[in-house]
Amino acid sequence: MMKLWLPLLLAVWLSSASGSNNNNNNNNNNNNSKQPNIIFILADDYGFNDIGYHGSQIATPNLDKLASDGVKLENYYVQPICTPTRSQLMSGRYQIHTGLQHEIIWSEQPNGLPLDSPTMADKMKEAGYATHMVGKWHLGFYKDEYLPWNRGFDSYFGYLTGSEQYFNHKRKYVDGKEYLDLWDNQGPVYNETGHYSANLFTEKAIDLVRGHGQKKPLFLYLAYQSVHCPLQVPEEYERRYSHIKDENRRLYSAMVAAMDEGIGNLTQALKDSGLWEDTLLVFSTVFCVRDICVISYTVYESIRSLQRDVCCFHSRGTPSKRTVLLHNIDPLRPRVGVPLYNDTFDTTVRAAVRVGHMKLITGDPGNGSWVPPPAESQKFIPDRRTSPDKNVWLFNITADPNEHNDLSDQMPDMVRTLLGYLQRFNQTAVPVRYPPYDPRSNPALHGGVWRPWE
Ligand SMILES: *[C@@H]1O[C@H](CO)[C@@H](O)[C@H](O)[C@H]1NC(C)=O
Ligand SMILES: *[C@@H]1O[C@H](CO)[C@@H](O)[C@H](O)[C@H]1NC(C)=O
Ligand SMILES: *[C@@H]1O[C@H](CO)[C@@H](O)[C@H](O)[C@H]1NC(C)=O
Ligand SMILES: *[C@@H]1O[C@H](CO)[C@@H](O)[C@H](O)[C@H]1NC(C)=O
Ligand SMILES: *[C@@H]1O[C@H](CO)[C@@H](O)[C@H](O)[C@H]1NC(C)=O
Ligand SMILES: *[C@@H]1O[C@H](CO)[C@@H](O)[C@H](O)[C@H]1NC(C)=O
Ligand SMILES: *[C@@H]1O[C@H](CO)[C@@H](O)[C@H](O)[C@H]1NC(C)=O
Repeated sequence: MMKLWLPLLLAVWLSSASGSNNNNNNNNNNNNSKQPNIIFILADDYGFNDIGYHGSQIATPNLDKLASDGVKLENYYVQPICTPTRSQLMSGRYQIHTGLQHEIIWSEQPNGLPLDSPTMADKMKEAGYATHMVGKWHLGFYKDEYLPWNRGFDSYFGYLTGSEQYFNHKRKYVDGKEYLDLWDNQGPVYNETGHYSANLFTEKAIDLVRGHGQKKPLFLYLAYQSVHCPLQVPEEYERRYSHIKDENRRLYSAMVAAMDEGIGNLTQALKDSGLWEDTLLVFSTVFCVRDICVISYTVYESIRSLQRDVCCFHSRGTPSKRTVLLHNIDPLRPRVGVPLYNDTFDTTVRAAVRVGHMKLITGDPGNGSWVPPPAESQKFIPDRRTSPDKNVWLFNITADPNEHNDLSDQMPDMVRTLLGYLQRFNQTAVPVRYPPYDPRSNPALHGGVWRPWE
């Protein structure tokens, strides 16, 4: 989850930049130890069971190699959908503190990661890094101030919003018409039609690695569109999975293969450029809540934790000190049932929290409609609604990671304890930012390109 990786990255530069602890945003004048290059790769809608080392039939040799040489986080959670995950990664803050609790930032909405939240790139820049981003931003673009190159990145190439087509780089407006969404920090990119985004983004990332002057350490955030819908992939990858009959599954598997190959190419470029020995590489996914994270590093040092909303990665088998994790509180989701307790968190509201082994879910539990259709993990999604008014579930995630065995009736005291956590989190929440669609966003008004309209 974001809570793990942001502090990990920041912690690495903290420990390498100054050797001191928290709160050292701008006093790193002591450059005694070398700052590692940091490559953060994000995949989209990639399922926990769809990686080679979790026994998938999809071959991911490059990811498996990174994992076997590095660290696998097996108890690693991200937010259930895109914007909340990306916003937490970039800001280090829970979405209840940025107003992004509800759904995603739709392309037609005048919305974005609040400007008072510095991004990871801002922090990296302060620490002396060259900061580059390639890929899917999806944290708002309705005003120039929200664009990635105004949020800490020296350079940018990619999709400003989400759900683009992989070959023509277009995305639908609410009326169903498609418009270009491919940008670099100079403006829209018109000449890459037909260039599959996994290849295109990989090549751009490799260009940055090759062009990196080594005067500064490199921070590269590579956010693939892969393997989000639509299911599109060059034939050469699909052919490798011709034995898979289900078309969705076949396309999805091929998309994973293309991404894995891209990661292999990037890793090779880091090696060829002599950067690899000083590089910390993190691969993570968004979506699907329980998720994959692989960390490959040749720079050890001490990895410290940074206390903000976020916390604590511990390597080498030491348990994490973090025991409490808020998944979300979404007050805009339609209410379900009646409150079960009158003096604590309102159980009709959609929320979830993890405390130690236990996870509590309240309100509308969802029905799996957000899960990418071809994911193997889909078959694990239980139907939780044993009655239409049911609004509390309790699971022991350690014993029951797929959440089949609801313990809420058996453990009412535990339910109450976890509701208390939700209530305390809720007291710190800011109002949701979820503005109505703005017709001025229509790319037809802007030369057929998704672009800032305010
Ligand atoms: C040392 O680090 C600071 C940021 O903490 C950076 O601004 C500066 O350029 C670095 N100096 C050298 C010589 O690398
Ligand atoms: C598109 O244009 C850019 C900038 O002129 C250039 O660097 C890039 O190579 C071009 N791409 C293709 C596929 O022609
Ligand atoms: C990886 O590199 C090979 C060799 O250059 C190239 O053919 C392939 O298209 C690249 N794959 C991706 C996903 O960029
Ligand atoms: C909680 O409040 C509701 C509505 O105000 C009421 O119907 C219910 O009896 C109360 N439950 C308890 C346990 O006090
Ligand atoms: C969360 O806090 C707000 C503001 O204090 C309150 O209005 C709301 O009822 C609380 N939500 C729940 C689910 O308890
Ligand atoms: C699942 O939930 C979504 C969103 O709330 C809704 O649009 C969809 O109809 C639901 N599907 C089923 C099978 O209930
Ligand atoms: C949850 O399950 C784990 C593993 O089986 C067990 O050690 C732990 O005691 C359980 N916790 C609770 C509160 O039931």
